[in-house]
Amino acid sequence: MNICIIGTGYVGLVTGTCFSEVGHKVVCVDDDEEKIAILKEGRMPIYEIHLEELVQKNRARKRLKFSTSIEEGVKESDVIFICVGTPPKERGEADLSSVEKVAREIASCATSPKLVVEKSTVPVQTGEWIKRVFKMYNSGVDFDIASNPEFLREGTAVSDFLNPDRIVIGVEKENAANTLEKIYEPIINHQFDPILHKSSSPHPVPLVITDIQSAEIIKHASNSFLAMKISFINAIADICERVGGADVEKVAEGMGLDRRVGRDFLKAGLGFGGFCFPKDLQAFIKIAEDLNYDFALLREVERINRERPKLLVKKIKDVLWIIKNKRVGILGLSFKPGTDDMRFAPPLEVINLLHKEGARIKAYDPASMEKAKKLVPHIAFARNPYEASEGANVLVILTEWDEFKTLNFSKIKKLMVNPLIVDGRNMFDPARMREAGFIYKCMGRS
Ligand code: UGA
Repeated sequence: MNICIIGTGYVGLVTGTCFSEVGHKVVCVDDDEEKIAILKEGRMPIYEIHLEELVQKNRARKRLKFSTSIEEGVKESDVIFICVGTPPKERGEADLSSVEKVAREIASCATSPKLVVEKSTVPVQTGEWIKRVFKMYNSGVDFDIASNPEFLREGTAVSDFLNPDRIVIGVEKENAANTLEKIYEPIINHQFDPILHKSSSPHPVPLVITDIQSAEIIKHASNSFLAMKISFINAIADICERVGGADVEKVAEGMGLDRRVGRDFLKAGLGFGGFCFPKDLQAFIKIAEDLNYDFALLREVERINRERPKLLVKKIKDVLWIIKNKRVGILGLSFKPGTDDMRFAPPLEVINLLHKEGARIKAYDPASMEKAKKLVPHIAFARNPYEASEGANVLVILTEWDEFKTLNFSKIKKLMVNPLIVDGRNMFDPARMREAGFIYKCMGRS
């Protein structure tokens, strides 16, 4: 099918590239000329594993191209996916001005019937608004509207897209559902070139077809539920610490083996960050408020999450007493491993708190140092974890990169002034770290 993707951020670029990979002809449009120029040169504006090879492969096959013109994309396509950003406004609600602008532009240049699909994370009822915009700016052409929320994680986005747990489609008309089912058919039936590990499941991917509003709520509810799981286990981590001898990792294992609970998203630590959970949670609380529902449960999820960086800094204080002028080595800056994304990254909050206390910080991250240099220019950066440890009074782990699992800790101990590690991500076995001669503080394990 001929597909146009508007917005080439994480969601748009991965969606467009993967649709071309499974056989569709895709044009990805963005009004950011620099970004489109980069993509046309075969370079990537973001780091996401497998994305570059798939972009290059499908551009060479002439299935994928980039443009700054919505008109060009709309004219060449039957189905248009809106994947533009919906950043938070001051009071937490999503800023929908890009969605509205794009809807207006699609309406004004369409000359034949189109199916317009919202993939950006938008408040429930946005579908209704998009319909109104179409009617206002083009009453002559037939538009169908659908919602198709994405569930991609940064760092595994390509693989998540090609091997999803489910595909959600919200429609008003059966025709729109049939079109989207056709687009997703190679993914539903695992029928594409297995460049990535193909699902071992012989079963088709479940397809949930519903009304537009339910599809919009599925997205909000899924992200909020996962955020709630993380804050829940972080609250349990605090209880484990207070009772003295309990270990939150064991508690999570014991809980997670119950299939009704599930093991995923029960990793206690520094809390959630990134551009999705914090903003989506805020937006959902605001949507509920506008509907006269006080979502106190989700406000508490946010509150617990906000406390995590402070708790970590308190742990450092509990051992060092005074932070001022102490050398702090930091390992990890991105909001999670596998990405260089630092938006709403909990490590930034920790660094800012330590900086306020007068710490002398030297940080290392395998991927996000360039971004970090712009965001926290007042700290020093190390070329590797050992350089970050050199002369440190404390080494603080803020992102659980695999690379840190195999560090030579006897070398690190010799490099440090005090053998003190504060681990915000529970990467290591406390008993083994103690055997290695460290004072090792972590989250929810005595
Ligand atoms: C999240 C969702 O997982 C995706 O399904 C969704 O599509 C995406 O948001 C979105 O709305 O676009 P992402 O933000 O990439 O994806 O990252 P996650 O892997 O979900 O992690 C989010 C945060 O939670 C990270 O800071 C991570 O460190 C933290 N986390 C995750 C924990 O603290 N504990 C856990 O057990 C799991």
